[in-house]
Amino acid sequence: MLEKINPAQTTAWEKLSEHFAEMGNAHMRDLFSEDSERFEKFSLKFEDILLDFSKNRIAEKTLFLLFNLAEETKLKESAEKEFAGEKINETEGRAVLHTALRKSSDGPVYVDGEDVMPKVKAVRSQMKEFCDKLLSGQWKGCTGRKITDVVNIGIGGSDLGPVMVTEALKPYWKGITPHFVSNVDGSHICETLKKIDPETTLFIVASKTFTTQETMTNAHTARRWFIEKAGSEEAVAKHFVAVSTNQNEVEKFGIDPENMFVFWDWVGGRYSLWSAIGLSIACTIGYENFSSLLEGAEAMDIHFRNEPFEKNMPVILALIGIWYNNFFQAETEAILPYDQYMHRFSAYFQQGNMESNGKSVDRSGEPVDYQTGPIVWGEPGTNGQHAFYQLIHQGTKLIPCDFIAPAQTHNPESDHHSKLLSNFFAQTEALMMGKTEQQVRAELKDAGKTEEQIEILLPFKVFEGNKPTNSILVKKITPRTLGSLIAMYEHKIFAQGVIWNIFSFDQWGVELGKQLAKSILPELKDTGSVDSHDASTNGLINAYKSMR
Ligand code: F6P
Repeated sequence: MLEKINPAQTTAWEKLSEHFAEMGNAHMRDLFSEDSERFEKFSLKFEDILLDFSKNRIAEKTLFLLFNLAEETKLKESAEKEFAGEKINETEGRAVLHTALRKSSDGPVYVDGEDVMPKVKAVRSQMKEFCDKLLSGQWKGCTGRKITDVVNIGIGGSDLGPVMVTEALKPYWKGITPHFVSNVDGSHICETLKKIDPETTLFIVASKTFTTQETMTNAHTARRWFIEKAGSEEAVAKHFVAVSTNQNEVEKFGIDPENMFVFWDWVGGRYSLWSAIGLSIACTIGYENFSSLLEGAEAMDIHFRNEPFEKNMPVILALIGIWYNNFFQAETEAILPYDQYMHRFSAYFQQGNMESNGKSVDRSGEPVDYQTGPIVWGEPGTNGQHAFYQLIHQGTKLIPCDFIAPAQTHNPESDHHSKLLSNFFAQTEALMMGKTEQQVRAELKDAGKTEEQIEILLPFKVFEGNKPTNSILVKKITPRTLGSLIAMYEHKIFAQGVIWNIFSFDQWGVELGKQLAKSILPELKDTGSVDSHDASTNGLINAYKSMR
């Protein structure tokens, strides 16, 4: 069990509050001009990943105090408990072992006295065999044709990871086109079915519980469509496989357990892409590349577990995040990949972060009296620049941003990549430096403006700067690097959850809406008017009934 320590009552927190009073108004422009070694001091290298965290409103003392906070809240001990398979997901009575899914080294990992590694390895082999057969054409559809399309039907953690990774690794696709259906909105499945040929399509029904309404509804629709097209139920065996922890439900759905890939309750949904939930990834990029993804993640696990705080990327990111979240009272964080293939990366960590750390009750069951998880959002650069960066530069809110870019592109087409990267470098510089009154005056003068015009325009053209960013520069987005990057953010989320004294691996908050939807569904089918809810909900339901 994780210890229950209120971070706001630690000595480090008190000292950080005092330190904030000194640092709150310091301008990074000055911090850089006072210290020519700031970049060297505040950057880290891990394999092909460079993390520059020097453009933050921190001094060495800030980090020192933040490390103390991590120590006082027992971060290292908590990480050991996680890796060792202790049931740190207390409210669900489960271990948290996505790290075991990418472990390649020998040695057991125990859950309830059982070494889980043999089971993990067996599923890896099953996945490999299946992918090899699919990609080589040995696995044939019911009419003897090779599979060309895979449709993953899942939602939340059973969808976002596979979508994000297959998109990020598009240059590694091996000839099978992946599709993803998640929304219960019938348009999602219907539009997907229009694009595929039943004879050459494999459906992967991916659901940890195999009871999720959206997934089961989409899976039944796909099955009906398929049987209608194929003309027989027997054909299902060659075109439907399941990924789940729930064999009973898989069988009830009509998928042969032979065609089932299992995982376990100690794999959280939003941490499951490393498990059989990654089957659609492996089928798309090939098992070897999937394996490299796992290896990259494992390398980051080892880094997180062993490196001291001052050299530990996930820990540094977590602590800097806490600095803004709890002392500057920043409410959101943006993740901005300068890589079009990574266009779902922020959406993926929106779930990863917000479902994990969107909690307001601490590990003792008491309401917290400090802020916990931030709102996470983002879009790829440069599109974001032409949409929401204005507010980051000149709005009233402080938005710490992570900028991520590869040094090498998969598409070296004319000077696209240099242009993209020039924007990547320019934005963090602009956010940090801003533009002073003096600079604006000189610029306007050069542009031939009169003194009067300059006075009018001046306040609008001044940029305060001092906006914090982390820059994450990677050599190239490869399966291994991507694995490391994902694991880095996973550990960041874990570290923050430990320090905030919350449970990061349950998600009770999503249940209420699900329960209510269940009770509303029969009311929608019924023709009479509804009066069982509050006036607004009754009014809306009855209006809907009159409009449909
Ligand atoms: O949104 C809630 C949630 O439980 C997520 O945590 C999970 O990833 C998703 O639903 C899907 O659940 P399942 O894999 O069981 O269908």
